[in-house]
Amino acid sequence: MLTTPFLNRRQFLASGAAFAASTKIAAGATATSTGNPITLRAATGQAALRPAPFGLTPVWHYNGAVPGAAIRVRQGERLRIEAQNDLPEDTTIHWHGIRTPNAMDGVPDLTQAAIPAGGKFLYEFDVQDAGTFWYHPHHNSSKQVGHGLYGPLIVEEHDPIKVDRDLTWMLDDWRLTEGGEIAGGFGSMHDAGHGGRMGNTVTINGKMPDRLAVKTGERIRLRLINAANARIFGLDFGALSPIVIAIDGQPVSPHAPESGVVVIGPAMRVDLVLDMSGKPGEALPVQDVFYNRMEYKLLDFVHDATLLRSTVPDWSIELAPNPLSEPDLATATRHEVIFNGGMMGQGMMGGGMMSMMNQMRQGNMWFINGVAAKGPVKEPFLKLAQGTSHILSMENRTAWPHPIHFHGHSFRVIARNDQPTRFKEWQDTVMMAPKEKVDIAFVADNPGDWMFHCHILEHQAAGMMGVIRVG
Ligand code: C2O
Ligand code: CU
Repeated sequence: MLTTPFLNRRQFLASGAAFAASTKIAAGATATSTGNPITLRAATGQAALRPAPFGLTPVWHYNGAVPGAAIRVRQGERLRIEAQNDLPEDTTIHWHGIRTPNAMDGVPDLTQAAIPAGGKFLYEFDVQDAGTFWYHPHHNSSKQVGHGLYGPLIVEEHDPIKVDRDLTWMLDDWRLTEGGEIAGGFGSMHDAGHGGRMGNTVTINGKMPDRLAVKTGERIRLRLINAANARIFGLDFGALSPIVIAIDGQPVSPHAPESGVVVIGPAMRVDLVLDMSGKPGEALPVQDVFYNRMEYKLLDFVHDATLLRSTVPDWSIELAPNPLSEPDLATATRHEVIFNGGMMGQGMMGGGMMSMMNQMRQGNMWFINGVAAKGPVKEPFLKLAQGTSHILSMENRTAWPHPIHFHGHSFRVIARNDQPTRFKEWQDTVMMAPKEKVDIAFVADNPGDWMFHCHILEHQAAGMMGVIRVG
């Protein structure tokens, strides 16, 4: 992707082009409602995750790049995507956060047969919601996503907000060997029982970030997508004052992030509006401060010599809501969903403890209402009549945070630890802190069998998933 290959690294960085080059996403796919299907070809390949003098890393990717082709489509249009599997194993594609018909959801053994090596599958659906979404395999996810299979799916509003630049950052965290290869050990019991597969190399759009050249006064819409298997990001923008305008693609009343830090669990998205307030020449760092004593600088926003404007523009940053069904809290049925398991937890006493201990010895580490899913899950743990409202009262009785994802629907996060939330935000993946209780509400309006799972992919593989049937 480098357009200036003859500069050495220092000159290249000084040119200010480094980040512009590194954020460039594989060219190609822009979807339209008519036209031919886009092809997403999953295959083995190589990527320059680390700057020279480091070598290439063998990866798995879509259409030859990490991230895969950025799909952009207008709200209400139809997407037709042909998945072509040139991997050495089965795969599928899941459209994370998109409310597709069940048969298009990409979950092997539940909504479709896995696409075999050499096979194809045509995905076709209308996009109802505008916002920031993404796609990834739903087969052997820890290994496949962990090897670089993912890409952004941006659904443009009919009436987008005005900004100077619209940027997407797909964040990832890789566990690389010193030689720059993806370390083995997918499926390690230690990762599964603790915080998942944490890496040692963070990338933005498939490159180790360094700096991003900005203009003073510039307004940027920054779409953050966390594609990491397990790493939670807590971004501190320092002197800049980010405003959150959407979470998981769904608009929210614009607000400053609580505690100033933008927290993004695996699979989550946050759209920010950033007004670049530095002086020409100034470098403003962004830090990731999520894990105590493991803070590091993600990158610098380097203000070039341009003064674009000296006051903050008064353009609206409010997005129009998406057409989601409003849950009726007065008639909603309440369901308890308890998460148990993992290492270092003390809260496993009580009824099912012996059976859970026995299962943990066999590698089933995590439990939803006492059940660890083994292999493909088919039997739903909840059956909801179509069109009815529901509240899931979820309780995390483990010592670990979990980003909990529900397919085919978005839900409102209505309470945390029995306190009503301020924004009742719509999400499809919600972070639960250790021991936290979170209530979510939604209308079961999309018929089919839908996955419900932790998006720390090693937790999912070790049992933390189930199926909710609607209809
Ligand atoms: Cu992003 Cu069930 O997945
Ligand atoms: Cu989890």
